[in-house]
Amino acid sequence: MQTGIRLNKFIAESGLGSRRTVDEMIGEGRVDINGITVKTLGVRIDPEKDKVTVDGETVRKPTRKVYILLNKPKGIITSVSDEKNRTTVIDILNIKDRVFPVGRLDYDTSGLLLLTNDGELANLLMHPSGEIRKTYHAKLSKPLEEKHRIRLSEGVFLEGKRTAECEITYLKKNSRLDVLVTIHEGRNRQVRKIFESYGYFVRELERTSYAGIEAGNLKPGEWRMLDKTELETLYKMTGLSAGTGETGAKENSE
Ligand code: URA
Repeated sequence: MQTGIRLNKFIAESGLGSRRTVDEMIGEGRVDINGITVKTLGVRIDPEKDKVTVDGETVRKPTRKVYILLNKPKGIITSVSDEKNRTTVIDILNIKDRVFPVGRLDYDTSGLLLLTNDGELANLLMHPSGEIRKTYHAKLSKPLEEKHRIRLSEGVFLEGKRTAECEITYLKKNSRLDVLVTIHEGRNRQVRKIFESYGYFVRELERTSYAGIEAGNLKPGEWRMLDKTELETLYKMTGLSAGTGETGAKENSE
């Protein structure tokens, strides 16, 4: 019988990233166990005995889990840190808890972004098999022709691989410049690229719904904690048994 827990699971649960991100950290040689760098995936540790560090910092299990919904403004990087010192989503949250973004929104895209330190949930939400639905409001450079709406909804080839079917509806009765697009994949700049493949330029893009969760009164730059019902829905969607963590975050000023 195998003992202990997987290194990537332990680190992800401490709030440093999804398991996939943690695997990258391991591959980059940033993780040590008892002072020895490990680059192999699949290693197991005993959390009671082994000392794990990432970039020299000891990894500890978080005592509480937080789930934050941010209305990301345009011009902010979806990242924990930025080598060019640009403002990140973490900077604008300004909280003590160490959280990371679940997936990403482009620099120029605004709208809903989930941030958490629950690596297990984040991992499942980001995995393609979860087919988590995301809805975007796109403002196009020219009115979308009905025949193009139908073809784009059926999926298009991007970089040699077909996108899955998606839903595209017109937002307004009298204009075909504003559309709502619902996808369940997360390919790089997917919404912009599917329109570009048919000669439309996306002038503005805003994510208006994530896994059925909507912004409510959140203005760009504002955030709130997920409520219990929203969290339970995410747990159900991903097949996790129950949300065990709190949803709250500690204000930096505390
Ligand atoms: N699709 C895009 O093109 N950009 C995003 O930020 C998200 C989805």
